[in-house]
Amino acid sequence: MPESIIRLRDISKVYEEDIAALCDVSLDVMEKDFVSIVGRSGSGKTTLIKLLIGEEKPTAGEIVINGWDLCNIKSRKIPYFRREIGVVFQDFKLLQQKTVAENIAFALIVLGTPRQEIHKRVPGVLSLVGLSGKGTRFPNELSGGEQQRVAIARAFVHEPKLLLADELTGDLDAIYAWEIMEILLKINKMGTTVLIATHDKSIVNRLQKRVVTLEDGTIIRDHKKGRYVI
Ligand SMILES: Nc1ncnc2c1ncn2[C@@H]1O[C@H](COP(=O)(O)OP(=O)(O)OP(=O)(O)O)[C@@H](O)[C@H]1O
Ligand SMILES: [Mg+2]
Repeated sequence: MPESIIRLRDISKVYEEDIAALCDVSLDVMEKDFVSIVGRSGSGKTTLIKLLIGEEKPTAGEIVINGWDLCNIKSRKIPYFRREIGVVFQDFKLLQQKTVAENIAFALIVLGTPRQEIHKRVPGVLSLVGLSGKGTRFPNELSGGEQQRVAIARAFVHEPKLLLADELTGDLDAIYAWEIMEILLKINKMGTTVLIATHDKSIVNRLQKRVVTLEDGTIIRDHKKGRYVI
């Protein structure tokens, strides 16, 4: 039986100056699910992702991710929690002085992975994202879409149980955006739960997966095989 890997109960997030970004959000995501979070600019998508990775704390409510109670987690435990998740940010956050392979390897080095294991995993994940042979390039020698693939490879190289991505395909042409989605679908088929926040209507409609719609910080729609309706 699949279990709930994301469990949110009555989450609210109020930033300073009384900006309520999320209000009474409850959400369950089952293991191996693929979920798109959609909503207008400012509806709270990025805030939700920040709460899911422990980068922000909720003002109220309960968050349990893969068994970790993020409202009560000790800061020394956060690195252990982070091993179980992978995150792709909109701006990739690639290290410009390191090659593609070094960028990916670095994610494993910080987790204390043995060198032999790193040598094995990096080519495997490069092939998964369609970048075999480009490991020795530097990020500025790649297209935007290729840099995105590196960011996915880096987020997935430790084979997390949950992969989160914020506006992954924002700046890409439709055809490249769908290729990126196909990588996420492959990763999902391998058993990783995937949650993306996106504005990309055609992608969401083509995915035919669960769609959760946020409006002004609350969930207004949650459909199993949803369409993008805002
Ligand atoms: N660090 C912050 N401090 C104060 N307010 C914030 C902060 N981050 C976000 N907000 C506010 O919280 C609300 C939700 O923002 P959020 O970034 O989560 O929206 P979003 O759905 O990701 O928008 P977009 O589609 O533009 O990325 C907005 O009103 C935003 O201005
Ligand atoms: Mg955002």
